Amino acid sequence: MLRLARKVMHHRWEYQGHMQGNTLVMLFQKTSTRTRVSFEAGMTELGGHAINLEWEKSNFTLSKVGLETRYLSRNAAIIMARLKAHDDVLEMARAATVPIINGCCNMYHPCQALADMLTISEDRAQAGTLGSDESIAGTKLTFIGAYNNVVNSLVSISAALGVKLTLVCPLRDEASIDQESRQRLKDRGLLTETLDVKAAVKDADYVYTDTWLDMEFFNDPSFAEEKERRIELMLPYQINAELLADSNAKIMHDMPIHPGYEMAEEVIECEQSIIFDQAENRLEAQKAIMLHLLHGLT
Ligand code: CP
Repeated sequence: MLRLARKVMHHRWEYQGHMQGNTLVMLFQKTSTRTRVSFEAGMTELGGHAINLEWEKSNFTLSKVGLETRYLSRNAAIIMARLKAHDDVLEMARAATVPIINGCCNMYHPCQALADMLTISEDRAQAGTLGSDESIAGTKLTFIGAYNNVVNSLVSISAALGVKLTLVCPLRDEASIDQESRQRLKDRGLLTETLDVKAAVKDADYVYTDTWLDMEFFNDPSFAEEKERRIELMLPYQINAELLADSNAKIMHDMPIHPGYEMAEEVIECEQSIIFDQAENRLEAQKAIMLHLLHGLT
């Protein structure tokens, strides 16, 4: 999939028209900027059409997920869903007769993980350090923040691609950790877990962070107390100029960014930042996912 994404990126116009006559339905139960835009722009560039369906304005609020999904499969060639609960994504997958793409749920963010690896792969290609067969195996990636859905997907994709992942995650809820993929990464000798953030950054090729509080709770007054607790715990782990003083690592963030929390304002567009490339690369990653699922391209 990563190789396909690189091909799509470098031969963009060769894939024009591949999705002609196909409709993508994008179902959103949570807010989005990048997932919404990149899937719709991707489908448009491939010659297909995308429909944005807001959960709250649809009859998913009135009926069963499975029944509504069975209907969608009759009109859509492919469905991307950003839902709150992973179980609902699984229910959609069981009910659908067309491919279902997880556009981020409470447990996983797989489309983001592919775009992240595409970004690393492109950055290494530009630096002349991409491995044979376009491999990024051995790349040292450090993630600092909460052990969340983004981390579960990073763990999973790192195990598949041989990326050495260091996690600095003082904030974790054991119930939301995908233990199976974590064990897979551990068994391959690719997982380090530490709270020594300075050392983890100094040794890294890439340093990545994400919000300390899931998007749907960030501005929710009923989470104000929990937000304060997290800020107090996590501020020593903020990515800022002082933390990066001894490091040449490139800086990543899946966005949206909360400046002054997980990342200091000065870092967002610093010389080492590849954050906007990373966000841009969602487009090619989504195209690769859709081309693979609908047309079996590799
Ligand atoms: N990174 C990401 O999924 O961005 P959005 O939430 O804006 O879609």
